[in-house]
Amino acid sequence: MINVLFVCLGNICRSPMAEAVFRKLLKMENMTDKIEVDSAATSSWHIGSPPHRGTLKILQEYNISSEGLVGRQLTKENFFQFDYIVGMDESNLSNIFEITGQPNHPKILRLLDLTEHKKDVPDPYYTGNFQETYQLVTEGCRALLEKICVEHNLKK
Ligand code: 4NP
Repeated sequence: MINVLFVCLGNICRSPMAEAVFRKLLKMENMTDKIEVDSAATSSWHIGSPPHRGTLKILQEYNISSEGLVGRQLTKENFFQFDYIVGMDESNLSNIFEITGQPNHPKILRLLDLTEHKKDVPDPYYTGNFQETYQLVTEGCRALLEKICVEHNLKK
């Protein structure tokens, strides 16, 4: 099994959105038996919380299940349990390095560095624009799945 972990600051807006979008991609490509997905926060602020209502609304709008999305915090052990640890912005990456104690490891990535955008995923908690974030997260998830398929010689 290949394990993918999306990480953001609160685990209520961007990373649960990415988890849900990526899981739907896996279902559509019949790859749920090969790749598993989870998400986590660098902060402890929203442990046990459901996603932000804006994230729930946009997932519903695109007919994507939000089942099982519950806030949790990244742990040091997660570094060893996951094959791809994907942050949403630069500050997530710094915080991931701090928590895991593993700076600049190739399994730690910034989502949109896999796309032509090469920028942070804007945080809708502050921008209020869940639609913009959804479009970028979706693009990033598609690019991530491509990368995984190439690296593990998987056929979609
Ligand atoms: P996220 O957004 O990192 O995409 O989940 C945030 C969620 C909560 C807070 C900040 C950002 N907060 O300050 O509680």
